[in-house]
Amino acid sequence: MSQPQTVKIGLLGFGNIGAGLVDLIQQNRQAYLQRTGLDLDVTIALVRDLSKSRLYGGVELTTNPSDIYQFRHVDIVVELMGGLEPARTLVLECLRRGKHVVTANKSLLAWHGKEIFRTAARLKRSVGFEASVCGGIPLIRVLNSGLIANEIDLIYGIVNGTTNYILSKMHQDRLGYKQALAEAQEAGFAEPNPHNDVSGIDAAEKLAVLAGLAFGVDVLPNQIPCQGIERLTLEDIRSAEEMGYVIKMLAYGKQSGRSLDLRVQPTLIPNSHPLANVANENNAVFIHGSAVSDMMLYGKGAGRYPTASAVLSDIVEIARSGFVPSRINDNQYISKLTTQKSRFYIRIDIPDRPGAIGKITTHFGKHKISISHAAADLVKRTGSRGRVTILTHDVSEKRLQKALSEIEQWPDLHSHPLAIRVF
Ligand code: HSE
Repeated sequence: MSQPQTVKIGLLGFGNIGAGLVDLIQQNRQAYLQRTGLDLDVTIALVRDLSKSRLYGGVELTTNPSDIYQFRHVDIVVELMGGLEPARTLVLECLRRGKHVVTANKSLLAWHGKEIFRTAARLKRSVGFEASVCGGIPLIRVLNSGLIANEIDLIYGIVNGTTNYILSKMHQDRLGYKQALAEAQEAGFAEPNPHNDVSGIDAAEKLAVLAGLAFGVDVLPNQIPCQGIERLTLEDIRSAEEMGYVIKMLAYGKQSGRSLDLRVQPTLIPNSHPLANVANENNAVFIHGSAVSDMMLYGKGAGRYPTASAVLSDIVEIARSGFVPSRINDNQYISKLTTQKSRFYIRIDIPDRPGAIGKITTHFGKHKISISHAAADLVKRTGSRGRVTILTHDVSEKRLQKALSEIEQWPDLHSHPLAIRVF
């Protein structure tokens, strides 16, 4: 074997994933050396508070960011801080100081990817971001190189483990939303403040990164229509099941001709669809490419070792190849209501009054929205509250919204109507 190439790694942030990376390297250093010819060495790490940090795996610790980018011997800096600042400033500074960068930070790339990739290209430095979307699943590499021969017209899937865990608990264990969220928090799959995950922001940031790679479009997360799972109830889950569906939080991107439809929303998936069986914290992504046709990738989208595995793959790739330019997109994305029709599940919480159901169906009829299934019942223990659940035939979102906005004017409604797209 020829002389191994030593790769010195500096970390910005040394939490769960950083510890996972150091563990993997310590436990498998010889094996990695044999597989890659590279001797990986995490040399120095930026931490917030030295007194709280253990000396982990012989890594030198510092609270001064410039120690990382000024350190002559560091070849690759791995950003594991999360959030936008100071991550953005430090990543740009590392590039300017001649370091290659690996990041697990999807927010940073979704909001500032263009600036970072442009700076890297100008300075001939690489930015690896395999860990930023769907953790351990090598999705970025598949889009960036494995499928490079393809025009991709469809990419969709479960890209947020927190919401998938919550919805799985609601389906499997018959838990209400709040209980399922509390279980997810207990099990470490939801943050104490779960807003970014349950509202769909996390998935929209991931979809923005994926849309750049799949469709060559420059899109910011706030341009992607986004619906959270917070309003789903156990009754919605049960109604969906009775109709032959499971509810999954989907990130969805479809290109037809010059129009691109991006969205993040809970969706009714038929029981027979492979995504229906992707449970708990797992992720799965479907891709349709012009040459390969359909493909599905499945695995752990977060967690210490799956994410560290993705980070390590970027380190090896950069150490082997040096500068590889990242794709920079100039096509702006304009978000608009899609004209694509689909079926919808609707739930409307109504007062238990004569004519209440008739009033709803009249609005549907007026807008020529055909109903394929409808059920109504009284909500137990409330006495005076009723619930209507409807499955429509194919209808455009625009037409449906017109009918629902009229229904919403009704002052006695207990909440806004809930509409969920059927896949
Ligand atoms: N909370 C995210 C998820 C992981 O569950 O997928 C980080 O994006």
